[in-house]
Amino acid sequence: MTTVPGDAELLYLDYAATTPVAPEVAARMAACLQIDGVFGNPSSRHRWGVDAAHLIDAAAGQVGALIGAPADGVVWTSGATESDNLAVLGVGRFARERGRGNHVISARTEHAAVLGALEQLEREGMEVTLLPPGPDGAVTVEQVGEALRDDTVLLSLMHVNNETGAVNDIAAIGERLRQHPARFHVDAAQSAGRLPLCADAWGIDLLALSGHKIYGPKGVGALWVRRRPRVRLSPLFHGGGQQDGVRPGTLAPHLIAGMGEACALTMADMEHEPARLRGLRDHLREQLVDLGAVQVNGQANGSPHVLNVSIGCVNGDALQADLDGLGISAGSACSSSDQAASHVLRAMGVPDALAHSTLRFSLGRWSTRESVDAAVARVGASIQRLRALSPAWPRYRDGQSLDALYRRNPQPAGASKESR
Ligand SMILES: Cc1ncc(COP(=O)(O)O)c(C=O)c1O
Repeated sequence: MTTVPGDAELLYLDYAATTPVAPEVAARMAACLQIDGVFGNPSSRHRWGVDAAHLIDAAAGQVGALIGAPADGVVWTSGATESDNLAVLGVGRFARERGRGNHVISARTEHAAVLGALEQLEREGMEVTLLPPGPDGAVTVEQVGEALRDDTVLLSLMHVNNETGAVNDIAAIGERLRQHPARFHVDAAQSAGRLPLCADAWGIDLLALSGHKIYGPKGVGALWVRRRPRVRLSPLFHGGGQQDGVRPGTLAPHLIAGMGEACALTMADMEHEPARLRGLRDHLREQLVDLGAVQVNGQANGSPHVLNVSIGCVNGDALQADLDGLGISAGSACSSSDQAASHVLRAMGVPDALAHSTLRFSLGRWSTRESVDAAVARVGASIQRLRALSPAWPRYRDGQSLDALYRRNPQPAGASKESR
């Protein structure tokens, strides 16, 4: 398929995987790169360095404003994967090394960046409890309360799930944790710019962000770390003294200015954009459900930008192949290279066979009613073609439910292990 100008706006519906850089952000970044720009090393004492240091302080202010937290807690990283690793490994190791506890709580639906860091903590001898989500993809404050132990040092939860858009009630969970010394880390990579964030007021201790999910550049992110009272963590990198040694390495003014600008733009859009996306998402959902044998995965009113649907009575591989050229995701972009069913859908009890024909649509700045309708037309035509070949489709039309056709996983894979 050839791409003509304008196609991207119409066909790209994968903003949860990544967003293009906003033109304002690109301009801000470009102004940092060359000899006449703010390109200095922020650690240098001459005027080029001082200018760069000011730029970085201003960008931290823009991050702080977006997440509702003091700017002095912002630690720049390479993205949310690094931020999550720094939070989980950093807090876990710091506590364990000082004999403060050996137990961490998280959820089965977390991003691989958190799950991978938790696996590393387990290899190092820590105990991890992964909470199972409800069928809507979220965990509850009661589950957290029950899992907390005297030796729990960290709770790590995502705000918005990247595959389903399911929202955890971070404010309520933070409130529950106030009575406990465990640190609270929140992966807000998907919620930033889509839902209000009040890191300080909600009792969050660490919060991870990614530039490229909010129209900023790839290769930059932030971990906000509470300073009052001070949250301590073991660094992942060693060597330079930048950022108080928490994350050493020369800071990149162009990336950081871009991320700051992206935060400011996102914040300015908060008044109207989430409501616009919610309207588009609801329209998309209605039209997809009208195609029949479509299961919506996640909450009825999850994050405004994500819609996850499993399409019954079609061959999943054929569906993916047929939709080549449409910018949507088979699950999460981060895990779709492996053929195993999504760990998120499995944890929610979606049968593997149905999970294999799941599509994630995610909306953003350039999504319009026209782009949503164009996507539905493509998906609808493909489904119609594939269902003509499906032995399950006549059975569905004769009254068999999707549940009966696919038989829900009575015991989602891995569910028998309470701790891992
Ligand atoms: C919830 C969540 N956490 C973490 C990440 C990793 O972010 P990055 O690509 O910035 O490393 C992603 C990206 O897919 C995400 O959606």
